[in-house]
Amino acid sequence: MPSGSISYEVHGSQVDISSEDGLVCVTVWKDDIIHVFRPLQPKRYGSKAVTGVTPEQAEPVVCEEGDAVVIRTPSLMVKVYDGLFMDFYRADGTLLCADYRKERQIRSVISPRMQKLLAEEGHDISRLLERNYPVQTIKCMDGDEKFYGLGDKTGFLNKRNYEYENWNTDDPHAHTDAYKALYKSVPFLITLKSQGVFGLFFDNTFRSHINLGKENRNYFYYGAEGGDLDYYFIGGNNMPEVVSNYTYLTGRTPLPQLWTLGYHQSRWGYESAQDVREVAAKFRSLKIPCDTIHFDLDYMDGFRVFTWNEGDFGAPGRLLEELARDGFKAVPIIDPGVKREPGYDMYDEGVKEGYFVKSPDGEIYVNVVWPGEAVYPDFGSPDVRAWWGGKQKYLTDLGFKGVWNDMNEPASFRGELPDDIVFTDEDGPSSHAAMHNCYGHLMSQATYEGLKRADGKRPFVITRACYAGTQKYSTVWTGDNQSLWAHLAMAVPQLCNLGLSGFAFAGTDVGGFGADTTPELLCRWVQVGAFSPLFRNHSPKNTKRQEPWQFDEETLAINRKYIELRYRLLPYFYDLFFEGEKTGYPVLRPLVFHYENDPETWNNNGEFLVGENLLVAPVLEQGATKKSVYLPEGTWYDFFTGKAFAGGQYHLVDAPLDVCPLFAKEGSLIPTYEVMQYVGERPYDTLKMLVFPGDGQYVHYRDNGVDFAYRDGASDRYVFTRSGGNVDVKIDRNGYEKYKKIEYIMIGT
Ligand code: GLC
Repeated sequence: MPSGSISYEVHGSQVDISSEDGLVCVTVWKDDIIHVFRPLQPKRYGSKAVTGVTPEQAEPVVCEEGDAVVIRTPSLMVKVYDGLFMDFYRADGTLLCADYRKERQIRSVISPRMQKLLAEEGHDISRLLERNYPVQTIKCMDGDEKFYGLGDKTGFLNKRNYEYENWNTDDPHAHTDAYKALYKSVPFLITLKSQGVFGLFFDNTFRSHINLGKENRNYFYYGAEGGDLDYYFIGGNNMPEVVSNYTYLTGRTPLPQLWTLGYHQSRWGYESAQDVREVAAKFRSLKIPCDTIHFDLDYMDGFRVFTWNEGDFGAPGRLLEELARDGFKAVPIIDPGVKREPGYDMYDEGVKEGYFVKSPDGEIYVNVVWPGEAVYPDFGSPDVRAWWGGKQKYLTDLGFKGVWNDMNEPASFRGELPDDIVFTDEDGPSSHAAMHNCYGHLMSQATYEGLKRADGKRPFVITRACYAGTQKYSTVWTGDNQSLWAHLAMAVPQLCNLGLSGFAFAGTDVGGFGADTTPELLCRWVQVGAFSPLFRNHSPKNTKRQEPWQFDEETLAINRKYIELRYRLLPYFYDLFFEGEKTGYPVLRPLVFHYENDPETWNNNGEFLVGENLLVAPVLEQGATKKSVYLPEGTWYDFFTGKAFAGGQYHLVDAPLDVCPLFAKEGSLIPTYEVMQYVGERPYDTLKMLVFPGDGQYVHYRDNGVDFAYRDGASDRYVFTRSGGNVDVKIDRNGYEKYKKIEYIMIGT
């Protein structure tokens, strides 16, 4: 049907609009999710992020209005104009996001000769070489527009005025806010402005560029170096709804095993069974709770994946059995790089079956990682994923309880893999350029599925590299940070934005990975770690050791205090994960998530919420013993003293080294357990509810904490209601044993 020079056809929930500029397919996935697809390539790249979900058969109303094709759902409206410009509105006619009609203003202000000189001295001149990308969309930017999300990017909570790149990058230097890319590519953006909030998810795995008003204050753009223009406009009445819609598309973090929420100790430096035994024994003798010990490279025989170093770690299985008797769960590192060594079974099998990526001439591609010359499994192939997945059983048979996937950007010590290295994309050939950003994602998928097959438990996978949607398979950590105060400060916005990007289970290396930590930095970092979904202390061989006891009595006591607090709060964290699997809400959230209309939250880089009820205001600055804390509307209570604080204002609170300012919102009911040295030490017989002033409701879940029976309903539900002076509980039991006792601890009354 013609409309000016554009025409359209409706196929169910999909509207195909053609003009002289080409074709755009607009599909209504749900009333508030609209998919925009402009095919620019003969080959169709299947989504890696949006899998296992299909459009809800929402029937859009389509008509012509003036020179536009208008597509309406009950909550959104899109107008498509000649030139395939598109504007997105709320159903009430409020304009949310308009295509920018003019060209980008790209200026190179420096002469080519000067550019050359700058480059020769090692300056980054990439900004001077800005260009239009073959896949590009430019959107108008409003004066008050803020941007959140984008995964693990460095810098601050609000990404406005910065530019980023999606190209999974292993860079061990100190990450600064000038970095454009780290290990993860999550091209999901939330924008907030007076007209409302919405999300844009650019589903394209090629190297891509996001410039949020840095180039020009009138627009922001997304550009990719290959693939199609493939994005989702994600509506919602508020930020939680936008995140919920995004995770509806890309998947939600599944409920993890309870022990994974305890404390994890790691160091690339436990070089023998004796080292590990000593660390484990120290936790128990000093009564510092700990569930997990991570095994870095040295447990392997010559860094060959899926092997065991008997020389230094003893007979396979023995150490892990000892650890298990003492309540420790062991998690090994597994890198993708397979040592190139005829006679090594992983290498031989992979060569025989054609499981490694190849150069265009058909030879197996070789680069260098930890084991020396190494080859790369082709995780885009379902057969390779099944093969790799099957190898997890070797690890679970040894007694490992989860798997830590690293170096899967993929990292390479002998220069980056060339773009044209031949990778597989499901059933056909693809390239490194197309598959690089989803390599870690596909490796995590293989690991998750393999672990699930191996022991039937909720798989615990940690990955460094990932793409949008990896949250379905894996928890993440932010890679090689350093023991710098700036990196402690950056941990807060990084974890907040990872949460907004779907990654409910994320953490930073507590104490900092590279460089030497200090007692004070470790104390402040453990205070952030105790409230991070993944709580792991990790460091490498070339730095000072940083287990909780490595410094003085005060540092030890502070570490113990916050690790114990984490163990008390385990049911609260667990409930958040349980809810999060249904809603997609992150566990750790920026204040703006619940208070988007409060300008003081928009750029709050120094505080965060755990769930809706706990506000954490950690000290992030060396030497500081006071913290300026912003509390949003309502009354808040100091978690430790019960003192009331009025919301909607700043308070300067005392924060000596052993205090991390922590507040509970009025009406909060917070479930706690007694401190155990590890999950499973004794049954959790008593639930202690901390009751803060004010009416409120809280739902607590309990199940076996291990397998998937909860998905068939084997989960008890406790609904607590506080009204007036009374707390009432309604228990809906479905298969799990009852608490022997529920205690109420009134705070702040
Ligand atoms: C990488 C990882 C780090 C690990 C090291 C050795 O740098 O990011 O966590 O300890 O490799 O395996």
